[in-house]
Parts: sequence; structure tokens; C-alpha cells
Amino acid sequence: MSMVVGSIHADFYISVDRFPQVGETVIGLGFSVFPGGKGANQAVGCARLGAETFMVGAVGGDDIGRAMVENLKRNGVVVKHIFVDRSVHTGVAFILLNTETGDNMIVVAPGADNSLKPHHVEKALEEEAQRVRTLLVQLEIPLETVYAALRKGKELGLTTILNPAPAKPLDESVYRYVDVIVPNRIELEQLTGATVKSLDDVFRASEILVKHGVKAVVTTMGSLGAALVAQDVKKLVKAFRVRVVDTVGAGDAFCAGLAVAIGENMELEEAVRFANAVAALKITRQGAQSVPTRAEVESLLEKESTST
Ligand code: RIB
Repeated sequence: MSMVVGSIHADFYISVDRFPQVGETVIGLGFSVFPGGKGANQAVGCARLGAETFMVGAVGGDDIGRAMVENLKRNGVVVKHIFVDRSVHTGVAFILLNTETGDNMIVVAPGADNSLKPHHVEKALEEEAQRVRTLLVQLEIPLETVYAALRKGKELGLTTILNPAPAKPLDESVYRYVDVIVPNRIELEQLTGATVKSLDDVFRASEILVKHGVKAVVTTMGSLGAALVAQDVKKLVKAFRVRVVDTVGAGDAFCAGLAVAIGENMELEEAVRFANAVAALKITRQGAQSVPTRAEVESLLEKESTST
């Protein structure tokens, strides 16, 4: 069982065959709206992979907010801890998707994400402590809320997972409340101040976080896979090769996979492999919440293990 604390957005996509330069207008290839927000993406991911999932977040009192909550419900996420702030708009993201490369550029207007306060999260955690095993948090909500969630989660004996995205400087004292941190290469650089170019750099920078009290660092490295560093492991777990359609939400799908696997007591390395499979299948489809089902993930894992 998972609890996800974080952002809820509507994603407005324009697909392009190249990104504009500053001051330039380019004509897009198409427009679509998808549910998004790192928190909501991770919650939908956990639910689709079979975990009972609580979402703690905030929306505005607008049609977008209502639609995003309905979407979470439809995906099996428990929405009773979503708070409505009628004085602000629901968070939105504008996304340029490059159809040639699968790369993206994203701008977020957080709106109600900023209304999520420590007391909302503490109350949700206290009420659900008996049912939840893993807590998953990202950085699209106020930092004081992130800190309160991790502190409370730890106090209640949960496994805490922090996805430090988008990158922000963090107070080092928070690491003692984090069991697993899941940065990408750039976030790892920003958190540690180290230059991270090679796999060895990733290992060295991860050790800095381990020294601060994090039990495991799992750095997502795109098509290379994910680098796992914990007390007795230092390993690159290779990615699955797939045809890239849309990388938006790949990190979120990975985090959901990791949280569900850890919640089921998989060994860390096996959990990272499971998360790699979830992220691989997600990037073959458009939309941040186009996370695969459990059956799809298991079939990819099986296919790969019989072909190696
Ligand atoms: O990680 C992808 C997400 O980042 C998008 O869904 C967008 O809403 C932004 O929050």
C-alpha cells in the first residue's frame, strides 16, 4: 500500500518537430490535454501496478481540478485526502513534445500545489498509518510540506522514497528521514554539488547522500538504466530497449514501479529492474500517466529474462 504526496496537474501538450529558439514562433503538429503532475502520475502508476494507493494533494475549485480528481478515482486511487482550495487554479503544465526525438520541455504553473500544507499531510498519514507501507514524495509542493511528510512518515515506520524533482536545494538534515532517493543525473549534481558525467561520478555523488543518512540512492539515467548505490551494492541496472514516443512522466513511472516493488519486499536490485520495465513501457505511449498494467510489466520482464 502506498501513499503519494505531491502535485496534481492537467498537462497541455503541443507536439513539434523542433523546439523554438528564444523569440521564435514554430507551428505545432498537434495539441492534446492529459492528466499529469508528478504526484498524480506516481499515484496512478502505483494503483495501476496493483497497490492500494492514497493521493495527498490539492486542486483548485475549477473544472480542471474536478476532472483531475475524477481521473484519479477512475484509476483506482483513493482521493479522500485531496484538498480543494477554491481561491486558486489547479496546477497546469505546458509541455512541448519533440516528436523527432521524444524529448520535452515543461513549464509548470503550480496553483493549488502550493496550498498543500504540512497539516494536510500529517493528518492523512496519521489516519492511514495502519494501511500504508511506502510513502512517495516529490518537490512540486512546498518544501516545508515535503519535510513534514518525510519526518512524519519515518516516525510512523513507513519506507520513505523521495524523488527530488524538479531539482531544488534541500536542507541536509532531511536525508535522515529518507530511505530511498531517486534523482536523475542533473538532480544528483544539484543535490551534491558534484559534477556528474560518468557512471563513476554517479557512484561517487551517491555516496555523499548515503553519508548524509539516505539508505539507498537510485539514479535514473535514461536509456542507460538506473544506478543503484546502497551500503553493500554499487551497480548499474540496465534499461530495456524500446521505441521512444514520449518521455514525459518516465521518471514518475519509474518511481511508482520502485515504490510498489519495495512495498512488496522485493530486493533493491530486483525492484530497480521492475521499475526500469515500468518506465520502458511508459515511454512507448503518449501522456504522463500512460503507465503499463502489472500484467504488461510482468510479460516484459519474463520476455527479457528468457531472451538473455
Ligand atoms: O514528470 C512529468 C510531470 O511534470 C508532468 O505530468 C507535468 O505536469 C510536470 O509536473
